[in-house]
Amino acid sequence: MDATLTLKATATQAAVTLAAIGQGSWYLGEGLAPRRDEVRALQQGLDLGLTLVDTAEMYADGGAEEVVGEALKGRREQAFLVSKVYPWNAGKRSAIQACEDSLRRLGTDYLDMYLLHWPGSIPLEETLAAFERLQADGKIKRFGVSNFDIDELQQWHDLSGDEGAVNQVLYHLGSRGIEHSLRPWQRQQQIPVMAYCPLAQGGRLRRALFAHPELQALAAELKVTVPQLLLAWAIRPVGGQRDVIAIPKAVQPEHVRQNAEALNIHLPDEALARLNAAFPAPGHKTPLDIV
Ligand SMILES: NC(=O)c1ccc[n+]([C@@H]2O[C@H](COP(=O)([O-])OP(=O)(O)OC[C@H]3O[C@@H](n4cnc5c(N)ncnc54)[C@H](OP(=O)(O)O)[C@@H]3O)[C@@H](O)[C@H]2O)c1
Repeated sequence: MDATLTLKATATQAAVTLAAIGQGSWYLGEGLAPRRDEVRALQQGLDLGLTLVDTAEMYADGGAEEVVGEALKGRREQAFLVSKVYPWNAGKRSAIQACEDSLRRLGTDYLDMYLLHWPGSIPLEETLAAFERLQADGKIKRFGVSNFDIDELQQWHDLSGDEGAVNQVLYHLGSRGIEHSLRPWQRQQQIPVMAYCPLAQGGRLRRALFAHPELQALAAELKVTVPQLLLAWAIRPVGGQRDVIAIPKAVQPEHVRQNAEALNIHLPDEALARLNAAFPAPGHKTPLDIV
């Protein structure tokens, strides 16, 4: 069965169930691949059920949002669209302007979720006031944060209450620091993790990850690829419940296809134990990993 995850209901929004793998968009709109290929990749992902599309005003200076907007033309309602505001644009007025600029580039009149990209110097109260204004005006349905470690997230949670938010953080098999305290606390609060760089940027963030002998052996035994194994691991249920949605970025059609297929991969306990042994989670608190 396809893997899904539910964002709980809030005061203003019904609960929403999403496929546990979505699509990233960093480096889109930068001319690294032909634009039509980037648009087609996002549309292929949507066709295959990867409905969450993550973008940010930062990516290609708004260029990624334009690519996403092109991909969503005529099918906006099929996507769960997430964008992010720069910390220095996250003020009471500036966040309204930044969001409206994102909406224009995306060719839509609402975001399903708006995130503060990382903690900055503007007081969180101001950002929250802006997010609540945008929500009241129907420009964003939900809001949350990104790159918040546990202290910052607790502070945000105390301020914002039970808004069904998410925290988007770096998480892959080679970077398991959030498992020590951040992820358990988020589970308690029912704040899902949106896992960025779930493929360690195609292995670039952790050299030789894709070539690791245990990963290669296990992938071959399970008849999947190493990136599929990494995605299935990232979204694995813990205690019977999923709390992670992974957002790999992929332009190559074969990559998009594989990533969508990873929704159907069940990792047996024995496979999880082998991955744990090869890539143990740290037994102590480590600084939040970021890129
Ligand atoms: N909040 C934040 O601060 C933050 C930071 C970083 C990223 N993000 C978000 O998270 C998304 C994902 O992170 P990311 O793009 O940095 O890294 P990633 O998703 O871990 O890796 C992307 C790379 O993996 C390749 N790839 C994708 N699927 C593959 C597959 N099945 N087999 C082999 N290679 C595959 C892609 O190649 P092709 O494109 O050539 O197919 C691309 O080079 C971003 O796009 C962005 O939306 C957020």
